[in-house]
Amino acid sequence: MALLEVKNLSIDLGEFHLRNISLTVEKKDYLAVIGPTGSGKSVLLEAIAGFYPTKAGRIILDGRDITTLPPEKRGISIVYQDFMLFPHLNVFDNIAFGLRKITSSKVEIEREVKTIAEKLHIDHIFHRKVSTLSGGEKQRVAIARALVVRPRILLMDEPFSALDEKTRENLRAIVKKAVREYDTIHDTAVVHVTHDFEDVFALANKVVVMNAGKVVQIGTVEDIFCKPTSDFVADFVGTNFVRGKVLESSDITAVRVGNVVIYTTDVAKPGIEVTLSIRPEAIILARELGESSAQNILPARVMKIRKRGHLLWLILDVDGLMLRAVITPNAAELLGIKEGVKLYTMFKASNVRVVG
Ligand SMILES: Nc1ncnc2c1ncn2[C@@H]1O[C@H](COP(=O)(O)OP(=O)(O)OP(=O)(O)O)[C@@H](O)[C@H]1O
Ligand SMILES: [Mg+2]
Repeated sequence: MALLEVKNLSIDLGEFHLRNISLTVEKKDYLAVIGPTGSGKSVLLEAIAGFYPTKAGRIILDGRDITTLPPEKRGISIVYQDFMLFPHLNVFDNIAFGLRKITSSKVEIEREVKTIAEKLHIDHIFHRKVSTLSGGEKQRVAIARALVVRPRILLMDEPFSALDEKTRENLRAIVKKAVREYDTIHDTAVVHVTHDFEDVFALANKVVVMNAGKVVQIGTVEDIFCKPTSDFVADFVGTNFVRGKVLESSDITAVRVGNVVIYTTDVAKPGIEVTLSIRPEAIILARELGESSAQNILPARVMKIRKRGHLLWLILDVDGLMLRAVITPNAAELLGIKEGVKLYTMFKASNVRVVG
C-alpha cells in the first residue's frame, strides 16, 4: 500500500488555485518537488500538512483518509527554510517540544531526543540556546524536532536554502544518512521542495514538477532530467536536446549533429535520426586541452551567462550548436569565464542519452 496518496486535490487560495493534483508517495521514497517560483510547491506541502481546506479531492495517508483532519492529528511533520525554532528554549527543549505532548516519561523523552540528535550530530549541544547556533545547526535541530515525534511522513520546504554552499553540502550528507535510517526503521518517506537541483540529484528517487498550480510531470530523476515530456519541463530543468543522424554504432555510437559529431554509449541504428539528451552538469569546461577520458571534446564560445540559484548557467556556441552548461561562480572565476570567451567543452559518451 502507498504511504501517501493525493487524489485530484484542488485548493482555492484567492487568486491562486492548486488544480487537480494527483501523486503517490511510496514508503521509503524521497520525493523532490520542483518548479518555478509561485507554482504552488509550498501550498501543496502545506495542503498535505493540513493548513488549507480542500475544495475537491482526497488525501490518504497509510490508507486513512486525512482530508479533513486538523494538522496535529495527521502524523505529519514539516520543516521550513527559516528553521522556526523556539528562541527561548535550548536545543534539547526545542527537540523535545512535540514529544512532551505525546509522553510525560522523562526517560523516554531523554532516550528519543538523544537517539535522533546523535544521528544529526547535535547531541553535544543540548544546553545551547538556539540563538547561538549556526544556520546548519539550527536546521539540524529543526529536523530532529520534526523526526522525534515519529511522523508518518516528513515534509521539508527548501530546508537548505538559507545556508551557504559548504554547509548545504555537509547537511545534505548528514540528512541523507539520518533520513534514510529513519525511513528504513519507520517505513516512512520524505517530500522535499527545492530550487536546487543538487538536492534532487543527491537525495531524491522521485521528482514532481509543478507549474501554475498543476503537476506537469512525475517520474524518476532520470525521467525528469533526461526525458522531459514537455518543452516546459525540458526548459525548466535545462536539459540539452539535440537532433542528429547516426553515423555508426559499434562500441560507441557516433551521431552527426550539424557541424559536429557527438558520441554516446547508447546504441542506435546507423542512418536513423535520433534525439540526444545531455545534462548541463555533465559538461566540463576547460580553457586548454588537457588529458581527458571524455570522448566528446569540442571547442565552444560562451554566448550568455545567467545566474540561477547558486549556479551560473552558460549558453555555449559549439560550432553552431547551442548547449547549456552549469558552473559554480568559483570555477567560472578560476577559468576567467565571460561572454565571448573561447573554451573547450568535454563530456563523456556515457553522459549522452539517446531519447528518441
Ligand atoms: N495563504 C495564501 N492566500 C492566498 N494566496 C496564497 C497564499 N499562500 C500562497 N499564495 C499564492 O499562491 C501562489 C503559490 O505560492 P507558493 O508559495 O506555493 O509558491 P512556491 O512554488 O512555493 O514558490 P517559491 O518557489 O517562491 O517558494 C503564489 O502566487 C502565492 O502568492
Ligand atoms: Mg515556496
